[in-house]
Amino acid sequence: MGRKSIYQTVYNRLRYQILSGEWPIGSPLPPERKLADEWGVSRNTIVRAYGDLEAEGLIFSKIGSGRYVQPVPPLPEGVRFQWRDQLSPYPSYMAELLSSFGKESAINFSLGDGGKHMLEISDFQKYVKQVAEKAESYYFLPINGHPQLREWAVSWMGFDQVTSPEQVVITSGSQEALQITTAVLAEPGDAIAVEMPTYFGALQLFQSLGIRIIPIPIDREGMNVDVLEGVLARYRPRFVYTVPTFQNPTGYTMSLARRQRLLELSEKYGFPIVEDDAYRHLQHGAEPPAPLKSMDRQGNVIYINTFSKILFPGLRLGWVAGSRSFIQLVTRRKELSITTNTLGQHALLSFLQDGCLPGHLERCRQLYRKQADVMGRFLDSLTPLGISFEPTAGGFYYWVSLPEGIQPKEILKESISGGVLFAPGDMFLARETDQPFIRLCYSYENSEQIEAGMEILTSILRTRKEMSA
Ligand SMILES: Cc1ncc(COP(=O)(O)O)c(C=O)c1O
Repeated sequence: MGRKSIYQTVYNRLRYQILSGEWPIGSPLPPERKLADEWGVSRNTIVRAYGDLEAEGLIFSKIGSGRYVQPVPPLPEGVRFQWRDQLSPYPSYMAELLSSFGKESAINFSLGDGGKHMLEISDFQKYVKQVAEKAESYYFLPINGHPQLREWAVSWMGFDQVTSPEQVVITSGSQEALQITTAVLAEPGDAIAVEMPTYFGALQLFQSLGIRIIPIPIDREGMNVDVLEGVLARYRPRFVYTVPTFQNPTGYTMSLARRQRLLELSEKYGFPIVEDDAYRHLQHGAEPPAPLKSMDRQGNVIYINTFSKILFPGLRLGWVAGSRSFIQLVTRRKELSITTNTLGQHALLSFLQDGCLPGHLERCRQLYRKQADVMGRFLDSLTPLGISFEPTAGGFYYWVSLPEGIQPKEILKESISGGVLFAPGDMFLARETDQPFIRLCYSYENSEQIEAGMEILTSILRTRKEMSA
């Protein structure tokens, strides 16, 4: 290949990376030398191509910090509209977290589910094998889910407000329940009030739909309902999203008094509450306060739950319950994904009908209580370094504040190379901040692995602390 064609190839490739959105608007371009090495060309070729792209207005340089993709690329002549500009990027933490799955050797404090324990303690595979033999497991079920599974959900919830299977739709996990609920209640540009921090899948969903997130602080008593009342008139949220029991990521539980006050506000101002109750049955000791839905006097609460935290996330089974009129709208939206997985619903139903759930939940609770204790002891031993955290009463998580001067992301890098994964606190906030929190999940690994992982984290933190002293 002649000199010119190498240059042309490099130039065309760079131009494509930018115009196709592979390198998103505003993102930094690779340094010249690095790219030259990667692509096996001379540095001069890259310098020249960057120069030409800059002259075209596709990229720009910032002194001392390198080159970036120009925020608004000029439209090529004759083209009126660039559809890619309409695609709004939003962070994909879910993909990052799920990709950590493959790292079998890593100790995982980042994934919020029961890990391998669930197969060991549930006997669930037996039911999968049984239903796999039956032809009915391979055909469609009604759009709103298996009628008997919906009946089961009604009696399991036991709410006076939800008495008929027509008030329940089975969904692909609670994520789909939340997604459909949001689509029914809100449009791009609307506002939704959420606890801050909150479950990142909800944040990601709302952001992807162009919804404005109104953050309401949370403390040990749950969402700060006074702050909520203060912002209601200004932002008129389409709904309040709350995880009132053993919240993700903080583990906090909303007190009964705040639950009552939140319901009063919803009645006074006329907004719905979406109650995501994923962790309700995973208490370490005393039962948590009653669900908001069970105290709902005006049909304002939409209730969402899942089998992901008490059985398997890969089942992708959850449900949404509410008033008949709301559930009709949910069912219309649910049609868009046709229905929910049949095989899984049959297996789950047999498991539930055999009465396996109560005993299984008891085993889960014992297991998680023990694992929470193991992790908690390590965290206790770190408090002299300046770490703080609240004891957990249920659910999967410790929300840990790091000592001053130690950044979660720096620790995360070191920790990943040491073979331990956890979630940095920023994931659970609507935008990046320098808040010093990390979320440690004690459900996924067994006690031995938790000890091993915490030894590694402890040593990283101690060394960092010594360095910063
Ligand atoms: C509060 C909360 N809601 C919903 C989900 C998603 O669960 P599912 O697997 O049922 O979609 C999670 C998972 O982390 C969660 O923490």
